[in-house]
Amino acid sequence: MSAQSVILPLPSDHARFIVLRLKDLSIAELKEKLTALLSTRDRLITQHPNAQIKTGIAFGPELWAKLYPQTPVGFKQLQRIHGAFDMPVVPADVLIHLASQRTDICFALSQAFFDGIQDQVEVLDERVCFRNFDGRDLTGFIDGTENPQFPDDRAETALLAEETGVFAEGSFVFAQRYAHDLKKWKKLTVDTQENVMGRSKLESIELADEVKPNNAHVARTVVEDEQGEEMEILRHSLPYGDGRGDQGLFFIAYTQDLKIIDAMLMRMFGSSGDGIHDRLLHFVTPMDGAYYFAPNEEVLENILEV
Ligand code: HEM
Repeated sequence: MSAQSVILPLPSDHARFIVLRLKDLSIAELKEKLTALLSTRDRLITQHPNAQIKTGIAFGPELWAKLYPQTPVGFKQLQRIHGAFDMPVVPADVLIHLASQRTDICFALSQAFFDGIQDQVEVLDERVCFRNFDGRDLTGFIDGTENPQFPDDRAETALLAEETGVFAEGSFVFAQRYAHDLKKWKKLTVDTQENVMGRSKLESIELADEVKPNNAHVARTVVEDEQGEEMEILRHSLPYGDGRGDQGLFFIAYTQDLKIIDAMLMRMFGSSGDGIHDRLLHFVTPMDGAYYFAPNEEVLENILEV
């Protein structure tokens, strides 16, 4: 079994995310187009071996039930949160994660997928994302510092274990686009921004426990299991934006357990019961959100064959 190619490697400089509902597209037509996308990918990899071309294809729970006779334990739809802040859920059928060192290649892959079906699908989002300076979110803070960096840790964090049988090396996915209010953010002093994030801005050093506010982003997103072990997720988020102000982060994380994401979101949005919410949410707003499953390569191949 092997994981889909986008999950384990460190992110490339460009990505494009496609989020869609089938609308008038049949499942057979979807399979045909995904097959076309993957064969274009293989051709481009041969022609551009240094372009780090990688893909991930994931399905929402409703479509998954129609594609495959079994469902991985723990796969479900994301639930709305009504806490100190509301968190929306916009269910979708398919999430396609395209990544490369070259933005033209992400574009070509999208073109290959959509060719001939543009009017049949409901595209909820097609987001062109980029690595910003040294991996910084548009708030100016380095995003990904505490991500597992080494292959074994990344696999352990993101991939379903061997015991899950046919689903081993598959991965659950959480995707949620955030829009940033950078005008409001830029009014804060750097000290205050650092208190919001819980890390230093220049070098991404975590603030000491004595000074880190309990509503800092990193204080809300550290969750522990019953043994007190930190539970991690594998983030592949990247910024997007135009110069006029539609700017933000396409948040995407891969995990072997969606309950970890549930716990992080409840702590962020202020519904975990301790009366605290993530201060970052005063500056960034979630626009959608859904859970998906990215099966391993072999299961994906089986699905596309029949
Ligand atoms: C606009 C939205 C967001 C922005 C700008 C953002 C930015 C950041 C930054 C700058 C860091 C510190 C550096 C690092 O370790 O990566 C961080 C850490 C983290 N974020 Fe976010 N984040 C956002 C949303 C989320 C969401 C929705 C989740 C989870 C569902 C999340 C989970 C995490 C986790 C787990 C960490 C690492 C915490 C640690 O171990 O110290 N973030 N984020």
